[in-house]
Amino acid sequence: MALICISDYMLDRLGREFEMENSLEKARCGQTLAAGARYHEGLAGTWTAGYAKRGFRKRLEVIVRELGSMVLPGSHWLDAGCGSGILTRVLNELGASGEAIDGSPGMIRRAREEQNRIDPAGAFSFGVVETIERLEFEDANFDGVLCSSVIEYVEAPEQALQELVRVLKPGGHLFLSVANYHSLIRHVQSMLRRAHITRRYAYLDTSRTTYTRQGIVTVLERLGMQVDKVAFFDPTLPAATFWMLPASLILVRAVKKS
Ligand SMILES: C[S@@+](CC[C@H](N)C(=O)[O-])C[C@H]1O[C@@H](n2cnc3c(N)ncnc32)[C@H](O)[C@@H]1O
Repeated sequence: MALICISDYMLDRLGREFEMENSLEKARCGQTLAAGARYHEGLAGTWTAGYAKRGFRKRLEVIVRELGSMVLPGSHWLDAGCGSGILTRVLNELGASGEAIDGSPGMIRRAREEQNRIDPAGAFSFGVVETIERLEFEDANFDGVLCSSVIEYVEAPEQALQELVRVLKPGGHLFLSVANYHSLIRHVQSMLRRAHITRRYAYLDTSRTTYTRQGIVTVLERLGMQVDKVAFFDPTLPAATFWMLPASLILVRAVKKS
């Protein structure tokens, strides 16, 4: 049980701020937000601070390592569902430029503030979008697309994936993380919540889509991607136990076929 509590401690703690900020942000942007963006609206103020926690730091380290071998200086990237822009900054530091988008106006406001504070000459433009299921970019616009922990919150995940592939150039790189269908922690949290044993893990009401390893590979291949690497990650569980205690996230690296 301790493991389960630690793993989503951050999401849950931050989630309590959701109701408070949500009405304000909604009124400000005067539009209906996508469900996943609405959920994150209340987390925007503390999303960056969350990366100081061990699980988030571990995840960041893995993503930095993967992106380090994918991003070429001068390349043009899209960070789809960028949150407060932590991973956008990684892309920027690796020499990429491009666009970072999110459905949450609060997240984008934070991302802009942080870029202005840390790196006013930052090479990414941040923008609010209605949803990543419908992108306004032209076909074959980007050398790379990053989409980290977003697909699980999207109402039509395969439409979103199709859009991410559409805006990639042939030969372009996709780095994606999705929720693992077999995740032990997710299953237990979900069971506890459904049985009304806890009111925690509110993220599960919005984070609905999970994939098996083969499932996400099949979808991406159908969309014209060649999958180069699939790895598992969990903020709490050690990799050596994944055969017995399945991890929370599936990380995928893929290239768009020419
Ligand atoms: C778990 S956070 C991940 C943020 C960032 N990628 C990271 O790894 O730090 C998910 C993000 O996806 C955004 N999001 C959820 N559904 C969305 C949608 N349909 N369209 C655009 N953004 C969405 C949320 O607003 C939130 O910022």
